[in-house]
Amino acid sequence: MPDLRIAVIGAGRIAQAAHLPALARADGVRLVALSDPSPVLAERVASRYEVTGYRSTDELLAHPGLEAVIIAVPDRLHLPLATRALRAGKHVLVEKPLADTVADGEKLRDLAAETGLHLQVGAMKRYDPGVQYAAEAVRNTIGRVLSATIWYRVMGRLRPTTEATLFPPRIVDENVLVGEAAYKADRRRYLLTTHGAHVLDGLRFLLGDPTRISAQASSHGGDHTWHGVANLSDGGLASFEISADVHAEWSEGADIYGEKGHVKLRTHFPFTLRAGDVEVFDEETCTTARPVFGDTNAYERQIEGFARAIRLELPDSPSADDGVAALKLIAAVAESAAANGAGVRL
Ligand SMILES: NC(=O)c1ccc[n+]([C@@H]2O[C@H](COP(=O)([O-])OP(=O)(O)OC[C@H]3O[C@@H](n4cnc5c(N)ncnc54)[C@H](O)[C@@H]3O)[C@@H](O)[C@H]2O)c1
Repeated sequence: MPDLRIAVIGAGRIAQAAHLPALARADGVRLVALSDPSPVLAERVASRYEVTGYRSTDELLAHPGLEAVIIAVPDRLHLPLATRALRAGKHVLVEKPLADTVADGEKLRDLAAETGLHLQVGAMKRYDPGVQYAAEAVRNTIGRVLSATIWYRVMGRLRPTTEATLFPPRIVDENVLVGEAAYKADRRRYLLTTHGAHVLDGLRFLLGDPTRISAQASSHGGDHTWHGVANLSDGGLASFEISADVHAEWSEGADIYGEKGHVKLRTHFPFTLRAGDVEVFDEETCTTARPVFGDTNAYERQIEGFARAIRLELPDSPSADDGVAALKLIAAVAESAAANGAGVRL
C-alpha cells in the first residue's frame, strides 16, 4: 500500500511533542506539510521536519497529493478546521476532544458521515497496548463487572521538568502562548474538558456506556477535583476521579472487579510512551497474566491505526460517535457537579 500523505494543522505543543515525532517513525504514512498561523512555528517546525510550512489552512489543504490531516489546534478550532478539511476531501484525525461542545461534535460527526471520509478522534490511550489488553480482558475474561475505580491525577510542579526531559526541544512563539492563555482562563471548564476527554473515553472503552452519572467538584486555589459515580448498563458501579493538579507524581489507572476475575491497570504519563502495566486475574484458572509489550508508543500506533482504517476501509477507532459520547459524559459531569451531585440520565 502506498504511504498515506498526511499534514499536521497546528504546530504547537502536542504536534511537536507527539504527532510530528510519531509521524517520523510510523509505518504507512508520510508527513508532507504542516501549517500554523504563527510565522515562527510554520517556518521553524517545518524546517525541522524538512516539509513545506504554510501559514494558511487553504494553502495547506491544496498541497499536491495531500490525503489526510491531523488537527492539533485548540479545542474551539476543531469544528471550523475539521470542517474545512473534510469539505476539501481530506480524511481527518482530530485531537481530543472531538469539538468544544456536544452540538459542535455532532455537526462534525454528521459532516464526516455525509462526505464518507474518515474522522478519528485523538483519544490515543485506546492505542496503549496495556489499555487494549485490559479492555479485552473485561470483555472476555472477568465476567460481568460489579465494581470499578478509575482515576487520573495530573502532577503539578513535577510536570514542566518532566516534560522538559521527555519532549524534543520545543519551538515556541510567545505571542501564541499569551493569546491562548485567555481561552484557558476558565480553568475549571478547561481542566474538565481536556482531562475528562481522556478519562471518560477510557471509562467507555473499558466498561461500555454508562446509563447515569453523578459527580461532585471541589477546588483549592487553582487545583480542581471531580469525583463521580457512573452506573454501568448491566448494573455495576464505576467510581471515577479527575484531579488537576495534585502535588505528587502522575497517577492514573483502573481497578475493575468482575464476577470471575480482576483487571488491574496502571497507565503512565503519556509522553513516557510506555504501555500501561496490566494484570488480569482469572479466578477459573487461579492465574494472573502480566503481559509485556514491545510496540508501546500510543501516538504512533494511533496514526498507524488511522492510516490502516483509510487504506483498508475499516471503521475509525475512536470514531466520531465515540467523540460525541465522550463530550456528552463531560457535559453530564459538569451538569451534575453544578447541581451538587444530582444524577444525570444518559
Ligand atoms: N492527546 C493528548 O495527549 C493531548 C495532549 C495535549 C493537548 N491535546 C489536544 O491538542 C490540541 C492542541 O493543544 P496544544 O497543547 O498543542 O495547544 P497549543 O496552543 O500549544 O498549539 C496549538 C497550535 O495551533 C495553532 N493554530 C491556531 N489556529 C490555527 C489555524 N487556523 N491553523 C493552524 N494552526 C493553528 C496555534 O498557533 C498553536 O501553535 C487541543 O485540542 C488539546 O486538547 C492532546
